[in-house]
Amino acid sequence: MTATGSQYRRGPFREGDRVQLTDPKGRMHTITLTPGKQFHTHRGHVKHDDLIGSPDGSTITNTAGTEYLALRPLLSDYVMSMPRGAAVVYPKDAGQIVTMADVFPGATVVEAGVGSGALSMSLLRAVGESGRVLSFERRADFADIAVANARAFFGEDHPAWTVAVGDLVESLPGAVEPGTVDRVVLDMLAPWECLEVVADALAPGGVLICYVATATQLSKVAEAMRDFGTFTEPEAWESLVRGWHLEGLAVRPQHRMHGHTGFLITTRRLAPGTTPPLRKRRPGRGYVPAEEDQDGAATGAMLDATSHLGPEGQDWSSEALGERVASEKKMRKLVRGVVPPTPR
Ligand SMILES: C[S@@+](CC[C@H](N)C(=O)[O-])C[C@H]1O[C@@H](n2cnc3c(N)ncnc32)[C@H](O)[C@@H]1O
Repeated sequence: MTATGSQYRRGPFREGDRVQLTDPKGRMHTITLTPGKQFHTHRGHVKHDDLIGSPDGSTITNTAGTEYLALRPLLSDYVMSMPRGAAVVYPKDAGQIVTMADVFPGATVVEAGVGSGALSMSLLRAVGESGRVLSFERRADFADIAVANARAFFGEDHPAWTVAVGDLVESLPGAVEPGTVDRVVLDMLAPWECLEVVADALAPGGVLICYVATATQLSKVAEAMRDFGTFTEPEAWESLVRGWHLEGLAVRPQHRMHGHTGFLITTRRLAPGTTPPLRKRRPGRGYVPAEEDQDGAATGAMLDATSHLGPEGQDWSSEALGERVASEKKMRKLVRGVVPPTPR
């Protein structure tokens, strides 16, 4: 027997199993099977004893004649309905994290923060019994909820999981040998504050993936990864999943979807002593290449527009922001096309 939950995920329903009951209107109720207990709605009830011993995927009829479909919740169902103290990583993003960060069976993975443990469960599934997930969470109350959630899902404490209460920056150096961690997953407000300890912990070639909710965090962590100098050029993306309505001839996208969850950004640890190859980015038109001033500081500037520089010296010009700006010639042509010539 292992404590990765596989023995609790197949076979007939047993005492202690979580079961999802779906009524004819699609409403879901999750119950934990307890001998002698009943599940009541305002119309009738179901005896838990009548479900214990039935195969997964059975139907059961309550005392008022309403039929329910009974299924074990999948991990994706479970994380969306489990108790949570913080926002969870949605299944669509957890899937992306596991795949794009290449979380493999037997891997050593560091995760922070734990929140409600939704992502931890996907990571645990991916590393299996032979791997390790070391999760760090600042808040003891959140860590307690996460541990309880995972225990309820796996049936026992997962053998690959260690949860430490504390800040990642303070706790990680004492928890792992430098250069021994295969993957690091950060879901927190300020992942850029953790880059130094993460770089020390990661093995050469190891992957760092961050999940951030806003474009401002994305930009800040991307620049911090570049400035740090021991990571590869970061790659970022978001995923949008649109469910489909399937009913007779009405086969079409659903009207509602989760329009935004978060952005993902990955980078990889370079071997010690390796400097990242220079990026060959085509500079925007009007950009003067950076020169070093007497103190050795880089001084890139716009040809004609120092007024674009923000209070901290950032360049907010159209070119620097990658906006396509029509040339003077094209503008004159456009204007000629829309403004009638003045009569002489
Ligand atoms: C959005 S939640 C994580 C949700 C989690 N990934 C899930 O799927 O349930 C962010 C968590 O990061 C924790 N946190 C923020 N900064 C941290 C740090 N430096 N070290 C440890 N935990 C941190 C917060 O307390 C919070 O619980």
